[in-house]
Amino acid sequence: FSLKNYNTFGIEAKAKRFIAVHTIAELTAVLEQNKSDKKFILGGGSNMLLTKDIDAMVIHIDLKGKKIISENEDHVWVESQAGENWHEFVLWTIDQDFGGLENMSLIPGNVGTTPVQNIGAYGTEIKDTFDSCNAIGIENLKSRKFTKEDCRFGYRESIFKNEVKNQYIITSVVFKLTKRNHKINTSYGDILAELEKNKIKEPSLKDVSNAVIAIRQSKLPDPKELGNSGSFFKNPILLKTDFEKIHHQFPEMKYYEVSETEVKVPAGWLIEQAGFKGKRFGDAGIHKNQALVLVNYGHATGQEILEVSKNIQKTIFDTFGIHIEAEVNVI
Ligand code: EPU
Repeated sequence: FSLKNYNTFGIEAKAKRFIAVHTIAELTAVLEQNKSDKKFILGGGSNMLLTKDIDAMVIHIDLKGKKIISENEDHVWVESQAGENWHEFVLWTIDQDFGGLENMSLIPGNVGTTPVQNIGAYGTEIKDTFDSCNAIGIENLKSRKFTKEDCRFGYRESIFKNEVKNQYIITSVVFKLTKRNHKINTSYGDILAELEKNKIKEPSLKDVSNAVIAIRQSKLPDPKELGNSGSFFKNPILLKTDFEKIHHQFPEMKYYEVSETEVKVPAGWLIEQAGFKGKRFGDAGIHKNQALVLVNYGHATGQEILEVSKNIQKTIFDTFGIHIEAEVNVI
């Protein structure tokens, strides 16, 4: 079974077996009937690089549905099934005038995988509105609810990438959103600039969403047109003491304080300085508008993209002494 249409990098890789599940009952039945088989859980396929065929049963989570499960005067708790497309879900919340997800408009992928890497963009992260998620144990088939505390969210991190990696399938996610007194967040410079360009002084949720969509469309390639998985690397976090030595040598280096002792450096800046922006190696390349994004011009293999990423990592380390880590899951 070809996975080409199931990964946003558009990599040609095959799965030994493939099954899409549309209900929890189907999912449990599949898990039960294939207890001894190796399994690979697939959501929207927007954060992975396939470097080989999958010698396992691929279970594509296609659970649909979204609903309000509770509300009070100020807040609403909305539950979305894992297989809902993230951006469509965000637009639906904005249409109901529910606030909190607007800054994360147009992120590719499905709702169910958003907690795994605590997706974030333009000043917000999923953890800011996340209430809980429901999951099923792959081995024991038991349902388990994970609260925000359980998830141990960090920058592109959660318990699902660490302690319970590959143990659970997230089936639905609950978000706590605002019904009034929305906390409009335009702290990310690009958003303010975009709003000003359109002479918007008191932005609505929809205005913020539209601004984010415009920024993303100007910088980030649309996976339907050019295969990619968003940021390929994480922005490295350095101890201030280490950073200061590097900064002394490279005074133009951009950085953001993340705590009293740590700073984050934009990997896109490092990659651009190292001369990779817009470069192409066969069908694998580095996007011309955003150096953090690796792209597939058509027929790149996962191995070829992986090679390019290693080349970038090595050059960045040799040039700046900074190790940049992949953000996408390399399979
Ligand atoms: N920069 C460059 N050259 C580039 C790209 C970036 O010099 O080619 C510098 C610029 O100076 C810019 C700074 O890096 O001011 C930050 O760039 P940008 O605002 O584009 O954000 P980013 O740090 O490159 C992160 C996320 C994105 C998210 C944006 C906006 C990570 C790994 N990536 O990128 O998330 O959309 O911020 O919040 O944290 C993703 O995870 O897939 C993703 C796209």
